[in-house]
Amino acid sequence: MLDVREIEDKINLYIGEIEDFSPESLDEVEQFRNRFLAKKGLLAELFENFKSVPPEKKKEFGAKLNALKNSVENVIEIYKKKFEKKEEDRDTEIDLTRPANHLQPGARHPLSIIRNQIIEIFSRIGFTVAEDREIEDDWHNFTALNFPEEHPARDMQDTFFIEKNPDIALRTHTSSVQIRVMEKTQPPIRMIFPGRVFRNEVISARAHCIFHQVEGLYVDKDVSFADLKQTLLFFAREMFGDQSRIRLRPSYFPFTEPSGEMDVSCNICGGVGCNICKYTGWVEILGCGMVDPNVLENCKIDSNIYTGFAFGMGIERITMLKYQIKDLRLFFENDLRFLRQFRGSY
Ligand code: DAH
Repeated sequence: MLDVREIEDKINLYIGEIEDFSPESLDEVEQFRNRFLAKKGLLAELFENFKSVPPEKKKEFGAKLNALKNSVENVIEIYKKKFEKKEEDRDTEIDLTRPANHLQPGARHPLSIIRNQIIEIFSRIGFTVAEDREIEDDWHNFTALNFPEEHPARDMQDTFFIEKNPDIALRTHTSSVQIRVMEKTQPPIRMIFPGRVFRNEVISARAHCIFHQVEGLYVDKDVSFADLKQTLLFFAREMFGDQSRIRLRPSYFPFTEPSGEMDVSCNICGGVGCNICKYTGWVEILGCGMVDPNVLENCKIDSNIYTGFAFGMGIERITMLKYQIKDLRLFFENDLRFLRQFRGSY
């Protein structure tokens, strides 16, 4: 039997040992556990000798022994956790044969792809790009473009007006940017204006209240209808293939005189006739004309010196033709099954 003194010495010795304990492996922790906590371990031995402690010291020694036991258990718990976690990590740490995490690359929106192509094609023949506001006043969207006050031509485009101020509206076309640019710049001007436009339309497979246009404007000395035709033929061939043909039909827009609408030979059947071109061999893609002298004068450009042409096309329409998309609503629904198909195009 150990006497009180010897028990106390052992307790202090073991406390020191616990404090110094810094195992390198789970095995060492296990050995430590056995040494202290096994049936015939060091703690069992001490509890065995507790009997010889005189009654007046039992309380003090009981507390000391229990504290020692708790310390041993705690330290074992801490190191067990540490090594078990390490072992888990080791399993997953560097397995060079594991497949890589699956990356989900994004795709550019088809309307952006086609807008970029349009910009690129025109940039090759000297057209630069400008953008301007989507919320416009009556002057820039209508009046300066030669839409007379109260003229039925204004009804050609169903407009979203701002309730509190009927002079302000969401622009119905990018032709408004022509005015913005010509008010600030004297010719020569050779620019395109891509942007979003708004019309109060019922949404269907063929129409939407929000869509996109690219406007073109060329103003200089001696700009002629022949220049317009050649520019548009170049565009059609770059966009739809070098076998493309174009035709111009007379039309009416307040801001151009004469005005035309341009058809391109159907890029699907090559002009033979199919359901895309409704068996006519032609698809309509844009409006155009010679800038009305009134419009030039509204922007303080001398119409005796300068002439110009303008055109405007819908990006949705061209995108639908290029990719044979039959429903315009697909562009706005953000359905990943649709959008993913354009991966890899810019
Ligand atoms: N602004 C017209 C529209 O939205 C399109 C257009 C037609 C633009 C003829 C033009 C043009 O510049 O000359 O329907």
